[in-house]
Amino acid sequence: MLMNFWYALAFRHEITDKPTRVKALGQELVMYRDSKGVVHCLSDLCVHRGGAMSGGWIKDDCLVCPYHGWEYASNGACTKIPANKENLPIPKKARVDSYPTVERYAWVWVFLGDLPEDERPPLPELPGFDDPKLRLTTGEFEWDANFERVLENSMDIAHAPFVHSGSFGNKDKPEVEDYTVTGDDYRGEATVTLEPPMPKGIWRYLYKKDRPGVRTTTGYFMANVTKLVVRLPLGELVIYNANVPIDEHHTITKWASLRNFFPGKWADKNSIERTYKIFWEDKPTVEGQRPELLPMDLSSELHVKSDALQLAYRRSRQHFLDKGWGIDAHQFTDERDRRYTVIPSPSRREVPELANAWVMKQVPRIASSTRTGTSAAEVAEGAQATEAAEGAHEP
Ligand code: FES
Ligand code: CO
Repeated sequence: MLMNFWYALAFRHEITDKPTRVKALGQELVMYRDSKGVVHCLSDLCVHRGGAMSGGWIKDDCLVCPYHGWEYASNGACTKIPANKENLPIPKKARVDSYPTVERYAWVWVFLGDLPEDERPPLPELPGFDDPKLRLTTGEFEWDANFERVLENSMDIAHAPFVHSGSFGNKDKPEVEDYTVTGDDYRGEATVTLEPPMPKGIWRYLYKKDRPGVRTTTGYFMANVTKLVVRLPLGELVIYNANVPIDEHHTITKWASLRNFFPGKWADKNSIERTYKIFWEDKPTVEGQRPELLPMDLSSELHVKSDALQLAYRRSRQHFLDKGWGIDAHQFTDERDRRYTVIPSPSRREVPELANAWVMKQVPRIASSTRTGTSAAEVAEGAQATEAAEGAHEP
């Protein structure tokens, strides 16, 4: 799991003026909307006795811990300790981490990290949400699986004929055409032509006999979003998945789909059911993958040409691991019984006089020793392995 990215963590309508606990990246977070409608996200861990503020309430736009009533402003600073005599100053250390938030598209995005604003990776650009001609539906799906396995699955082109032979996959057409990956450090995508079998029900009418193939784009945006664009003869369907890493082993996909055909509400139910059918087809495969976590080492799984998009993702991930942005979840899951750690927020760096004002220690990072041999050289080796695989035949 990577810190220092914007994560789509909740649908906008889920966050109200009542505090809501949101789990992400192995962290307990609390989100709420203040009286001006602005969304805030804080560490849900009161520095007094570890109370969960999400079980409390909002008073004058401050979050009140339900245990002893400490009040925290949206910037994480404690503004009131009710048990103290009125004139006692509030200790500087009475503060929790507060993370930048943005409401965009269908989600609330939270910047989980400590980078100053001008150094933060961009929020993904996901067009279509402002277009009144497009019909939006949303939903969520839970996985007992690591979010990177989920993410790679949703951009995986070669699995459709096997995993999705009950829906859009055509088991008679398993070959993947050569494709190019476009993108940069933050995103990647590829377009291929699929030839799905004839669908049933109302969706039949989207197809003509002797139809041309369906141009399909899949892609990812660092760190947790994937997209799928399906260009059907009658129109275009786009599905964005925000794959929220609850922790290393659990993921909730908060998906949003936009279609420019059948714009009426009447078609929503069918559209939503079709989306879930695909998730349910994927679920046993993704949950069955081992190791559960995506290997750090490119050479520990065998890549072939059709995996180029996933390889691009793994290289991108490596790039950010090399920057030291990887959270070592194994350390904190072992330690959290006695010691809790949090993702550092920007004010840890932005406000020097607060440098020592933090009660909660920072999450352990993936040490560079763990990454030795998996950076540039190993990536190159992985790419060579791919090339070798293209021509290699076992005797
Ligand atoms: Fe939050 Fe005491 S634990 S006020
Ligand atoms: Co799938």
